[in-house]
Amino acid sequence: MKLITEADVKGKKVIVRVDFNVPIKDGKIVDDNRIVGSLKTINYLIDHNAKVILLSHLGRVKTEEDKKTNSLQIVANHLSSLVDCPVYFTHETRGNELEACVNNLFEKEILLVENTRFEDVPKTLESSCDEKLSKYWAGLGDIFVLDAFGTAHRCHASTYGISKYIPSYAGFLVDDEVKMLDKALKEKRTLLLGGAKVDDKIGVLNNLVPSSDLVLIGGAMCFTFLKAKGFNTGKSLVSEENIEYCKELLEKYEDKIILPLDFVTEEGVKDIDEFNKNDIGYDIGPKTIREFESRLEGSNLVLWNGPLGKYEDKEYENGTKEMMEFLEKQKFPTILAGGDVTGASKVFGVKMYYVSTGGGSTLEYLEGKKFKTLERLNG
Ligand code: 3PG
Repeated sequence: MKLITEADVKGKKVIVRVDFNVPIKDGKIVDDNRIVGSLKTINYLIDHNAKVILLSHLGRVKTEEDKKTNSLQIVANHLSSLVDCPVYFTHETRGNELEACVNNLFEKEILLVENTRFEDVPKTLESSCDEKLSKYWAGLGDIFVLDAFGTAHRCHASTYGISKYIPSYAGFLVDDEVKMLDKALKEKRTLLLGGAKVDDKIGVLNNLVPSSDLVLIGGAMCFTFLKAKGFNTGKSLVSEENIEYCKELLEKYEDKIILPLDFVTEEGVKDIDEFNKNDIGYDIGPKTIREFESRLEGSNLVLWNGPLGKYEDKEYENGTKEMMEFLEKQKFPTILAGGDVTGASKVFGVKMYYVSTGGGSTLEYLEGKKFKTLERLNG
């Protein structure tokens, strides 16, 4: 991939596609990991006297009504508290105001453009990678930088379309993500999987179970495996259509797939063979935590996708929390890769070796999919 350091950016208008699709609650940004993640690229451009034009989406915009709750104005305000240069915001995604803002931009200044998905109403111009829109946005700048790994799996006008028309480079965030996830894919690894649905993880299981040394499974997704093993899983979430798939996986890789022994239920901690027909396991239990920790010891690298329990509730946070605190102390690296382990690491204040900024994109990358947006940056 061609990295931004290869370009001469001095005095140039540099369009940077970032992923500022951050969680916002009651008008406040709950997790600014993605914004902070792009500062390396933004600050590099500012230090090298570029005029920085930022494009991002926020949420899914399908109607005029959606526009009211998905403005990037809040993000512009937050960004200006993180950088040492002026940050301007334009409410337009196309038109005179936007063009004037671009033309009035000085070196070492930032312009954040309103949510690119506002162009999805009334026609899905952004999401369908409309050619005219792509050309129009490309015409606003001299150079394009992709720094939105979280959206790199989408071939949209702002992630893919623009790069057809002007010289394009990877930003540091995208470069780091690709290096880290490639490391996790290539090296000897222990796979730690959680999250609600096994259905979402089939691609990752197919791609990574054969090459992993060990696969530890928690979260609600483990119940489909436990059911496949013949346990009574009560009312815990089970994907009936994937029981057969899990059975086959367990038969083929029985030595390396490790499942929980106990769970935290509404009635307290129970071994899986004590479950009654109404029990729901919301978190892995203490025996499982110890078992997982002893299995993880001596790993070369841990790749972790998905929380091990319903960590948002205090009474069910222990599995995810203790595992993170344990892994934080180990000498081997742990890469947190999607499925809301990023959010959990923030809640528990742990510092991991690497925390991916991607959600769906990270999952697809781990499934072994190739992204056209990244391929284009190869020249
Ligand atoms: C994400 O949050 O996963 C990315 O920003 C992509 O968002 P999307 O799934 O709405 O395209």
